[in-house]
Amino acid sequence: MRIVLLGPPGSGKGTQAAELVDRLSLAHLSTGDMLRAAVAAKTPVGVRAAEIMERGDLVPDDVVIGVIADRISEPDCADGFILDGFPRTVAQAEGLSRLLEGLRLSLDAVIELTVDEEALLARIEKRARETEGATRADDNPDTVRRRLEVYRKQTAPVAAYYEGKGGLRRVNGMLPVEAVSGEIAALLDRVKTTSGSEAAG
Ligand code: AP5
Repeated sequence: MRIVLLGPPGSGKGTQAAELVDRLSLAHLSTGDMLRAAVAAKTPVGVRAAEIMERGDLVPDDVVIGVIADRISEPDCADGFILDGFPRTVAQAEGLSRLLEGLRLSLDAVIELTVDEEALLARIEKRARETEGATRADDNPDTVRRRLEVYRKQTAPVAAYYEGKGGLRRVNGMLPVEAVSGEIAALLDRVKTTSGSEAAG
C-alpha cells in the first residue's frame, strides 16, 4: 500500500507510521527524519536545511520533492511506503502526483490525524523531556508555535487538496495511541476491500 499521513506537529504521524511499518512491512519515508539525517551528516541538502528547520519553517519544495523522488525509487519502496510529513504544501502534493503518475502508481489512502492544537505543545514538551540530551533543535516552545503557524498556512491546504480529489480520510488523533492505530487499521481494511477504487492519485 502507498499511504500519506497528514497532521500538524505532534499529531502522532511518526508514532502511527512506526506501527504501520511493523504491521504492514512498508517503507517509512519521513522527510523530517531524512532531513535531520542530512543535517547531521552535513550534506549539501543538510547544510541548506539546518537553519530553516531550526526556525520552524519549511525546506524549499524542490529540495524535498527531490529527496522523495530519489527515495521512492529505492528497492524497499517497491512493495509500498508510508509518507510521514510529506507532502506539506500543495506544490509538494502536485509534485508527488506527477512523480507517481510517471511511475504508474497511485496512493491507496491519505489519512489526516485531527487534533486539538492546545494538546500539541504539551505532547511535544513531553517528548523533549523524554529525549533529554538528544532533544530536537525545533522542539522548543517558540519554534513549535512557529511550526504550528506554518502548518495552518501552508500545510492545511494539502488536506483540502486531497479532499477535493475525494481521497481524504480523517482519524481522531486525540484518542489513545492504540485506539488511533485501530481506527487507521479499520480504515485501511475498508480501502483494501474497495481495491484502490478510492485512490487519491
Ligand atoms: P517533522 O519531523 O515531519 O516534524 P513534524 O511534522 O513537526 O512532526 P513531529 O515529528 O513533531 O510530530 P508527529 O506528528 O510525528 O508526532 P509524534 O508521533 O512524534 O518535520 C520537522 C521539520 O522538518 C519541519 O518543521 C520542516 O522544517 C522540515 N520538513 C519536514 N518535512 C518537510 C517537507 N515535506 N517540506 C518542507 N520541510 C519539511 O508524536 C509526538 C509526541 O506525542 C510523542 O511524544 C508521542 O509519543 C506522543 N503521541 C503520539 N500520539 C499520541 C496520542 N494519540 N496520544 C498521546 N500522545 C501521543
